[in-house]
Amino acid sequence: MDVAPPDALELEPPELEPLELELPSLDATEALARRVGQLLHPGDSVLLSGPLGAGKTAFARALLRDMAGDPALEVPSPSFTLVQSYETPRGVVHHYDLWRVEPGPDLRELGLDDAFRDITLIEWPDRLGFHAPAGALAITFTPSPDGSRRALLSGWPDRLPQLMDPA
Ligand SMILES: Nc1ncnc2c1ncn2[C@@H]1O[C@H](COP(=O)(O)OP(=O)(O)OP(=O)(O)O)[C@@H](O)[C@H]1O
Ligand SMILES: [Mg+2]
Repeated sequence: MDVAPPDALELEPPELEPLELELPSLDATEALARRVGQLLHPGDSVLLSGPLGAGKTAFARALLRDMAGDPALEVPSPSFTLVQSYETPRGVVHHYDLWRVEPGPDLRELGLDDAFRDITLIEWPDRLGFHAPAGALAITFTPSPDGSRRALLSGWPDRLPQLMDPA
């Protein structure tokens, strides 16, 4: 019986290591958001994880203001409305906060299938279960004891390297 040599099993391209970035201040979170926003196209999804107050909405707000070209754009937290949608010159962006959403029937009412054709920013994406979009950029924010944040970025093997160097 033929046995495949070990290296023949390595057909999948190696997973890119997650990218870890220090975000010493809100300014750094906002700068990262703008850089991510510049890489977004319809069909893209950014999954924003991390505990309450970690900076998910702050990130989405900076990204949306930059994409809309309006530094004063109102970007409320969608924790009660569940989703807020924005027209931008580069396409429609849907900002979800799924904190209060139960996995299951609630999810079907959120119009996610249509939204995934546009750009989506999703807080509390763990609520999506198997509805989570493939090919998303996942960012997890972790507060440090000194009040700063760390961001762990994964997914986007083609674009992650572009986020590596501070702009
Ligand atoms: N890198 C950073 N360093 C220090 N403070 C930051 C940083 N990024 C964001 N913040 C601050 O953290 C707070 C984050 O609030 P935000 O509403 O964005 O959190 P959230 O993750 O969306 O929480 P929730 O889960 O309740 O929606 C804001 O006050 C913001 O100024
Ligand atoms: Mg929030």
